[in-house]
Amino acid sequence: MKPIKVGLLGIGTVGSGTFKVLQRNQGEITRRAGRGIEIAMVADLNTARARQLVGNAATVTDNGRDVVTNPEIDVVVELIGGTGIAKELVLEAIANGKHVVTANKHLLAKYGNEIFAAAHAKGVSVAFEAAVAGGIPVIKALREGLTANRIEWIAGIINGTTNFILSEMRSKGLAFDTVLKQAQELGYAEADPTFDIEGIDAAHKITLMSAIAFGIPVQFEKAHVEGITKLTPADIEYAEELGYRIKLLGISRRTGDGIELRVHPTLVPAKHLIANVEGVMNSVLVKGDAVGQTLYYGAGAGSEPTASAVIADLVDITRTLTADPHNRVPHLAFQQGSLADTPI
Ligand code: NDP
Ligand code: HSE
Repeated sequence: MKPIKVGLLGIGTVGSGTFKVLQRNQGEITRRAGRGIEIAMVADLNTARARQLVGNAATVTDNGRDVVTNPEIDVVVELIGGTGIAKELVLEAIANGKHVVTANKHLLAKYGNEIFAAAHAKGVSVAFEAAVAGGIPVIKALREGLTANRIEWIAGIINGTTNFILSEMRSKGLAFDTVLKQAQELGYAEADPTFDIEGIDAAHKITLMSAIAFGIPVQFEKAHVEGITKLTPADIEYAEELGYRIKLLGISRRTGDGIELRVHPTLVPAKHLIANVEGVMNSVLVKGDAVGQTLYYGAGAGSEPTASAVIADLVDITRTLTADPHNRVPHLAFQQGSLADTPI
């Protein structure tokens, strides 16, 4: 069978990891997917760097429209970020009948309802495992592993940059700005790191998880969001003395009035598993009525951990290409006929 042809938009931190892991593990990935997955085309503003990375393996362009309009491309992987050109290209790819994989939580938290509806109408996938908690397969856990459950709540560390900053400040006494700079150099932080340190990125992620878990439209604007910029080294020390660690948590839960969504620094008892999640690692707790509490842990950011999630989505799409097209986008409440604003 002919390989699936993939067009990559953006070959920066996550894009280059995706290319490398696909090349390195090609044999195993092909066996698992049932057919080859080939990055046939790459779009990046820096075409020289892109060509150096991909060699002769793929065609390189500086114009993403070349990718989304190319009839040979089956799946478009959007790894540019932001809500500008990324949104235009994703919607154009969908309109052209292409499946989409993206790590762009900002885009989906802001325009997910529109994008999912467009994909639903066209019968194509929009997969976004990499958009939440980096390499941890938490979207698959919510959509598949826990599908029998009425989800009661989700809580977790879902931003690697801020967890890295808090960990390094506590364990090494480093200054906030020094550690933030390290997180940027390591490729963990967003292009605009305000999204990380002000809790916005974590709020994007809890919004997306909640849409899946509770079957509600994506409603980022209703989340309570507070970051870590007001914390001082003294806060971290006092917490320690009292037997706690400060963690930036994303939390969503059912209440009598609807679904609550919030992100804020939280005092976690030092003996709790979550308190001991350090550095760029993320961890998500999910409580379902049947299964009870479940816990997921792994790298929350970085080139290859995130690539692992991108490729998992590519394999998933490859495997299910012949299945019912309506199963290829998340089953949110609005797909059952109403875009009504679910109380939140
Ligand atoms: P990078 O900035 O490293 O990569 C983005 C790439 O896209 C760059 O090479 C950039 O080129 C290129 N680009 C910018 N504009 C265009 C355009 N118009 N057409 C084609 N290419 C373009 O970002 P990341 O790889 O870190 O992040 C990508 C996405 O993944 C974001 O949505 C991010 O939120 C998400 N994500 C990132 C994680 C991480 O650990 N880094 C983890 C999980 C998700 P240039 O450099 O020349 O501007
Ligand atoms: N900036 C994000 C983080 C990348 O630090 O968690 C992964 O989504």
